[in-house]
Amino acid sequence: MAKIAVTRWIPDDAVKLLAEAGDVMVSPADRPLAPDELREFVSGASAVVGMLHDRLDGALADAAGPGLKVVANVAVGYDNVDVPALAERGIVVTNTPGVLADATADLAFGLLLAVTRRIGEGERLLRSRTPWSFHLGFLLGSGLQGKTLGIVGLGQIGRAMAKRAEAFGMEIVYSGRTNRGAGHVSFEELLARSDVVSLHCPLTPETRHLIDAAALRAMKPGAYLVNTTRGPVVDEAALADALEAGEIAGAALDVFEKEPEVEPRLLGREDVVLSPHLGSATVETRTAMAVLAARNVVEVLDGRAPLTEVKP
Ligand code: DGY
Repeated sequence: MAKIAVTRWIPDDAVKLLAEAGDVMVSPADRPLAPDELREFVSGASAVVGMLHDRLDGALADAAGPGLKVVANVAVGYDNVDVPALAERGIVVTNTPGVLADATADLAFGLLLAVTRRIGEGERLLRSRTPWSFHLGFLLGSGLQGKTLGIVGLGQIGRAMAKRAEAFGMEIVYSGRTNRGAGHVSFEELLARSDVVSLHCPLTPETRHLIDAAALRAMKPGAYLVNTTRGPVVDEAALADALEAGEIAGAALDVFEKEPEVEPRLLGREDVVLSPHLGSATVETRTAMAVLAARNVVEVLDGRAPLTEVKP
C-alpha cells in the first residue's frame, strides 16, 4: 500500500478519501514539524499532503525517496513549495484554488470593517471595564460609502473582495499584471487614490515587501491597509514606523512576516486589528480545501491528472 503522509490534522472527509488510495499517516504532533522531523516523517511516502507552514522542497522529496509522486499543498498559496525542484524530480504539485475565495474575502472585509469602525478598540475598552458613555464624538471611525478600495491582485479572492466592497458603496480600483477592464491602475496610482488598500497578490520574489516604507508614504494620509495574503508582502517594521508617524490611519493583518510571530510594536497599537491567519477558517472551507487536496492525491496515485495542478 502507498504511504500517504499528512503533515498536520485534516478533516475526516479528506482522510476517508485518502484511505481509498493508500495508508494514511497523519502527524500526531499538534504543531508544525521541524524540517528534520518532516523529512523523517515523509520517508517512503508516495504522497505528501502538506500545510503552508511546511517547506516542501527538493530535500523533502529526497527524504521521501524515489516513490514520491505527488505533493498536495492544502492552500491556494504555494510560496512554501519549491515547485521547480519537485517538477525536476517528476513530482506533481497541487494547491487548492477556487474553494476559499469567499471565506477569505469575508474575513478580509470583516477586518476592513473592524479597523475602519474601531471594533477591536471598542471591545478592548469594554473588556477592560473602562467607564464610558455615549457621546457624539466617541470612538469615531471612517465610513465606507463613496470611498475607494484599492485591490492589489484581482484574482479570485480579489474579485470576491470587490463584490463585497461594491455592496458597501465603495469605488474599486485594482492593480496587478492582469488588466480585467475598468478600474485597472498602476500600483502607484492605486496607493495615491485608495482610502483602503487590500492585498490579494501571491507572495513571490516581486511582491516580497511590496508594501515598504516608500509605498506606505505614497498612501493617502488617513488610509488603511488590510493584508490577508502572505505576511512578507508587507515590511512590518516599516508599517509600525508609518503608524507611529501617523502616515496612515490603521492596519488590519491576518498574516505576518515571521508567522506566527507578530512585530511587537504592532501588538500594542489600538489602530491595528490582528487575527491569526483565519482567512479560510470556516468548517465548510477547510473541509473543501482538504477534500480537494485529497482528491488530487487520489487522482495522481491512480495514474490520472490532478484537478488543480501547479505548473512550474
Ligand atoms: C491559502 O490557502 O493560501 C491561505 O492562506 C490559507 O487559507
